[in-house]
Amino acid sequence: MEMQKQPIPRKAFKLSPEGVAYVKNELVRYEQKQSAIIRSLYRAQDENGGWVSPEVIAELSNVMDIPAAQIEEVATFYTMFNKQPVGKYHIQVCCTLTCGMLGGRELTDSMMKEAGCSRTGEMSKDGLFTFSKVECLGSCDTAPMLQVNRDPYIEGLNEQKGIELVRSLRAKAGK
Ligand code: FES
Repeated sequence: MEMQKQPIPRKAFKLSPEGVAYVKNELVRYEQKQSAIIRSLYRAQDENGGWVSPEVIAELSNVMDIPAAQIEEVATFYTMFNKQPVGKYHIQVCCTLTCGMLGGRELTDSMMKEAGCSRTGEMSKDGLFTFSKVECLGSCDTAPMLQVNRDPYIEGLNEQKGIELVRSLRAKAGK
């Protein structure tokens, strides 16, 4: 059966005055202003609730005076930029070799079940969680591990610790 796609809510986006100042400051740091795209995308993604919408691209294009196509190219190439809305907690679980062999996939499944997500990329109904399986994050000796948003890594996990992490994030959000 074909899965019905939820329409993605669209909303206008403008960088905050601090965000505009941040991007302008990035622009003068480099000889080529294209070099400022990645950090500016991070800032705009944070201000847009964790994802890069077409409106974010348009705003950055305007503020940076760089063609939208060039900014979109960067946003599309790098997996750390989300092209659709994510939950308050975007949980990126490493499932590459070491983490995979030490239970990364089972860890993901258990956490998703606890969070109420039936598949990766889907946002839980309470808007709190989205899960992604990601490639090696460079911390193989502490596998299995994950990253929540852009916070420091959480390492040496197992299924039970993962479930507890979901519960503690839910409690932190007051739900
Ligand atoms: S395999 Fe997971 S951090 Fe390297």
